[in-house]
Amino acid sequence: MHASAPAKIILFGEHAVVYEQPAIAVPVSSLRASVTVEPNPAGSSGLHIVASDLNQTLPYDLVSQSIDNALTLTVRLVLEHLGAEPPAVLLTVRSEIPVASGLGSGAAVSTALARAISAALGRSLDNPALNAIVYEVEKVHHGTPSGIDNTVIVYEQPIYFIRGKPIEPIAIGAPLSFVIADTGQGALTRIAVGAVRDLYQSEPERIGSVIRAIGAVSAQARSAIERGDAHELSALMCQNHAYLQMLTVSSPELDALVDAALSAGALGAKLSGGGRGGNMIALVTPETQAGVEAALRNAGAARVVSTIVQEEHHR
Ligand code: PMV
Repeated sequence: MHASAPAKIILFGEHAVVYEQPAIAVPVSSLRASVTVEPNPAGSSGLHIVASDLNQTLPYDLVSQSIDNALTLTVRLVLEHLGAEPPAVLLTVRSEIPVASGLGSGAAVSTALARAISAALGRSLDNPALNAIVYEVEKVHHGTPSGIDNTVIVYEQPIYFIRGKPIEPIAIGAPLSFVIADTGQGALTRIAVGAVRDLYQSEPERIGSVIRAIGAVSAQARSAIERGDAHELSALMCQNHAYLQMLTVSSPELDALVDAALSAGALGAKLSGGGRGGNMIALVTPETQAGVEAALRNAGAARVVSTIVQEEHHR
C-alpha cells in the first residue's frame, strides 16, 4: 500500500492571506512526499515509522510520543479521529520535497502519512477531515498558519483561498510554466509572519493598504489565470513582489533571483511563500524556460525546479 501528497507553491497573496485577503496556491505534483505501508518485520510488533530522509526512526508509542514531533502528532490525530488503535505495520516515509523552503514539505508528509494510516486500517479519511488534521499539525510548527498550505496539498488542485471561507478551485485557462528557484537560505515562515504583524501594528494605515492591494492583485490574478492571460499575470506577479518588498519579506538574495529571471526573459517573477529566504517563482514560456533556469543557477540558486500548472485532464 502506498499514499502520497504533492509539494505546493503560493502564486499570489502570501502574508496578506493571514489577514483574510485572498491568495492563490497550486500543487507541484511532480515533487511528492510518499508513505508505504508494509507488514512489520518478523519479531517486531506495534506501529513503526521510518523516515530516513528526515533522519527519524520512530517506534510509535501512544504513551510516549511527544506532540512536537509532527509525524507522531499526525498519527495520534488520525487514530483519535477514527477511534482506532495503532495498526501493527511498518510505515516508510520518503520525501522529494526540500524542507524549510516554502514548498510545503511538512504538510505533504503529514498528508501522506495520515492517508497511509487510514489505508492501513482499511478506513476512509475524507479530505475535509484530513485537512483539519494537517492544519492542527501545521500549527505546531507555524503558530497561526492561514491554512493555505494544507488545503492546496490535501485537495491537490489550484485554489483561491480566503482564510475561514470555503475553498474555491480555480480553472486554468491555459497551461502556465513556472521555474521555482531556492535561495538556499532557510527561513522560518513564523518569523516573517511575526515581522509583518509588528510592522502592521506600528503603521496600520500604510501596511493595511499594502495588504489590501495584495488582495486586489490576487483577485485580478484569478481572473487572468482563468482566462489564460499570461501577460497580465506576469505584470501582477511583479506588482505582488513589490508589495512584498514593502512588507519587508523579500531579501537581497530573493531580489537578485527575481532580477536574474526577468533579465533572462521570464514574463514575471516574485518571491513565493514566507520570504526572507526560501523560494522565488518565475513565469516562463517554453522558449525562455531553459535560459531562465540557467540564469537562476548562475545567480546563485541552490535548487531550480520547473512545473507546469494545467487542468487535471491535461496531466
Ligand atoms: O512559507 P510558506 O510557503 O509555508 O508560506 C506561508 C504563507 C504565509 O502567507 C506567509 C503564511 C500563512 O500562514 O499563510
